[in-house]
Amino acid sequence: MPPVAHPASYPSLAGRRVFVTGGGSGIGEAIVEAFARQGALVAFVDVADAASAALAERLAGGGLPRPWWRRCDVRDVPALQQCIAEAAEGLGGDFDVLVNNVASDDRHAPEAVTPDYWDERMAVNARPAFFAIQAVLPGMQRRGGGAVVNLGSIGWQIKEGAYPCYAVAKSSVNGLTRGLARPLGAHGIRINTVTPGWVMTERQRRLWWTPEGEAERRRSQCLVDELLPHDIAAMVLFLASDDGRMCTAQEFKVDAGWA
Ligand SMILES: NC(=O)c1ccc[n+]([C@@H]2O[C@H](COP(=O)([O-])OP(=O)(O)OC[C@H]3O[C@@H](n4cnc5c(N)ncnc54)[C@H](O)[C@@H]3O)[C@@H](O)[C@H]2O)c1
Repeated sequence: MPPVAHPASYPSLAGRRVFVTGGGSGIGEAIVEAFARQGALVAFVDVADAASAALAERLAGGGLPRPWWRRCDVRDVPALQQCIAEAAEGLGGDFDVLVNNVASDDRHAPEAVTPDYWDERMAVNARPAFFAIQAVLPGMQRRGGGAVVNLGSIGWQIKEGAYPCYAVAKSSVNGLTRGLARPLGAHGIRINTVTPGWVMTERQRRLWWTPEGEAERRRSQCLVDELLPHDIAAMVLFLASDDGRMCTAQEFKVDAGWA
């Protein structure tokens, strides 16, 4: 549920078809739920079977449109593109919105990185966004427009040193957004980056939260409250909706003022 009492509603999103990568848990789950609450038709892929199935059940059980979902490892580009095609068929038409959310922020020391590990980090954190865009593009062109939202990160911007490969991959998100804004804009398709600060997903609390990290968060944010997944989803909704119709090629930070 959104952390604010009266979240915005965007009538333009009702009935829109939305594809989310990594939508089964964490911020992706909040994005899937937020679009469903707007009456959008949502499809997502993830490798987390139990969480994904539970999300679909929860939303359908709450009277929202049941999201279409498949297990898909986004490191497999043909499988990802095949899922996008099947999802469009399943939801009855081309996608209006693509949210490139999937990522993996596993920690690694620079000395331990091999060329294979490097490639694997790029395959989950950088490559899927480009090829998902490639897959939705013909449909968005047929529809005469669309919106792409790429999830960035403040991690590399605040010089977090625990995951250099992830930092490289996430810094490429702004380049992806800027590099595609003009060719996509020619078709009325907008593309933006939403950059989260430290968002307290269940995974973040379980794996990476420490008292020292919490003290740093409090020192570094300008607002003391914890960021929650729905805070990020709120910005994604705006950019996907017609209210954001003249926003493209930009980075929008939701980080409580940290970076
Ligand atoms: N949580 C944060 O504090 C934070 C901070 C900055 C940026 N971000 C960005 O926000 C986005 C979402 O973050 P999150 O913390 O919810 O991410 P997460 O690590 O929880 O993963 C997102 C989802 O992707 C799925 N996934 C992982 N590997 C996959 C694969 N190979 N194929 C398919 N699915 C896979 C996971 O199962 C999960 O459901 C990411 O792009 C991340 O880089 C998050």
